[in-house]
Amino acid sequence: MKHLRKRNEPIPLSRFAQRISGQSMFRILAMAKDLERQGKDLIHFEIGDTHLEMPPEVKKSAIAALKAGRTHYGDSSGEYALRLAIQKAVKEDFKFTPSLSQIVVTSGANPLIYYALAVLVNPGEEVILTDPAFVTYNAVLAMLKIKGVRVPVTHTNNFRFDPAEIEKRITPNTRLIVLNSPANPTGAVYAKSDIAKVYALAKDHNLFILSDEIYSRLVYEGAHFSPGVLDACAERVIVTNGFSKPFAMTGWRVGYAVGPERVIEKIILLSQTIVSCVPPFLQDACVIALERRREFSRRYLAEYKKLRDIACGELEEIKQFEFSKPAGAFYLMINVSKTGMDGDTFTEYAMEEHGVVVCPGSGFGPCGKNYVRICYANTEKNLREGCQRLRKAALCGSIV
Ligand SMILES: Cc1ncc(COP(=O)(O)O)c(C=O)c1O
Repeated sequence: MKHLRKRNEPIPLSRFAQRISGQSMFRILAMAKDLERQGKDLIHFEIGDTHLEMPPEVKKSAIAALKAGRTHYGDSSGEYALRLAIQKAVKEDFKFTPSLSQIVVTSGANPLIYYALAVLVNPGEEVILTDPAFVTYNAVLAMLKIKGVRVPVTHTNNFRFDPAEIEKRITPNTRLIVLNSPANPTGAVYAKSDIAKVYALAKDHNLFILSDEIYSRLVYEGAHFSPGVLDACAERVIVTNGFSKPFAMTGWRVGYAVGPERVIEKIILLSQTIVSCVPPFLQDACVIALERRREFSRRYLAEYKKLRDIACGELEEIKQFEFSKPAGAFYLMINVSKTGMDGDTFTEYAMEEHGVVVCPGSGFGPCGKNYVRICYANTEKNLREGCQRLRKAALCGSIV
């Protein structure tokens, strides 16, 4: 038999494997951990996680469920009680009632980006999204060979997009528009009128909308508006959300989507194929988090708003930094080009020379190149100290 490859050559991985890039902040975190093992003192602003603890009531409920033996395989679409709680929350918050077949519970909201795009868009087709945008969108688009068509946004305009710019980019090949409000990495909260215009475009051109609303409860100015309200998630809007950000439950890995039944049916099968189900004892406790969502998220919102104001106050003093005050989420996207460095160079320099870890903006899209993102969900002490270190990096870096 004729061999196509030499026996001693490494067997190539699949072409799919070659398109996997991961999340840039986890790469930075790994580099930082390496430096810490060597004894370096670092302040971490790179990961979108929080210093706050989750609500103790939810923790207690998970322990009780664990003790009660809720430790077996469960329903791939999500536990009945949690889907009922999601249905009720949507009814109260959005004023429409999705059927239970429009709801799926998944292991975090992150995999939903992959599930939704895999189910809705073919390789070679186009998806419109902002630039910068959350890393997972870019990573998943590359993996699935979908063309990302980007709408640049900038701090000079509060990272707002103009719906006309979206319209200009619609072609016969467009299948879906991504909305993410409040947005990661920019903290932008989109106006209801802009979201309604995007929905009208999607309707006119018969497109899907993937609306990632993981930060919907973290809005400091303005109000969150979901395009899901406009079609009751029945036809073209898929809303994703989860427990990580509103309730400081990032390690739980529980998220959910509400969308058209035929879409959710396929997402359930995909999730079933990959993770089988989400642990039932976690889902039992998530019911409490949703039932008391207003009370719980109010506490976090107040704390993050205070921290946002501290971070903005500290960073405004640094003349090499340019940013706009974010209206939601817990990030600040800072343009560092006046330091003479791009985001990647600044990130390495600030980490190695000044002991503060940020996330380079390049992972969020080509327009993020001159930015770094910080997550300000940290103790006030760390936040102030980290900002001082950033100040030194900006000053010294500009002279280097
Ligand atoms: C915009 C956005 N969507 C989704 C996620 C994923 O959240 P989860 O922890 O639920 O997977 C994140 C996490 O950082 C995010 O920023």
